[in-house]
Amino acid sequence: MIGKLNHVAIVVPDLAAASAVYENTLGANVSRPNDLPDHGVTTVFVNLPNTKIELLHPLGDDSPIAKFLERNKDGGMHHICYEVEDIYAARDKLLAEGARVLGSSEPKTGAHGKPVLFLHPKDFCGTLVEIEQV
Ligand code: CO
Repeated sequence: MIGKLNHVAIVVPDLAAASAVYENTLGANVSRPNDLPDHGVTTVFVNLPNTKIELLHPLGDDSPIAKFLERNKDGGMHHICYEVEDIYAARDKLLAEGARVLGSSEPKTGAHGKPVLFLHPKDFCGTLVEIEQV
């Protein structure tokens, strides 16, 4: 059911410092910061040949990643995102398998303008999983 790895998201305490690590130390192609007020994050994309790394920093007062950063002061891996062809078919299979879909189970428009769902980390090896219809 799942296809390509779309991205790995890493929450960082300092976007400029994290961008510099990826651009200078690791020699990657790094985008400029992009504010996404609807999602409560500022993102920087690290474009790799086969996937993307998303550096995330809280934006605004009720950012969904603020608590994560409080618990992980140095930052850390937040979620991985797999591509699916049909998000409703994927959701129905996941629910039938007993997996927990976060929120209302209705897909929301994600940071890339595509429908996404998040899956409970306890059902997926301790990792928050995002699925995105591409
Ligand atoms: Co994501």
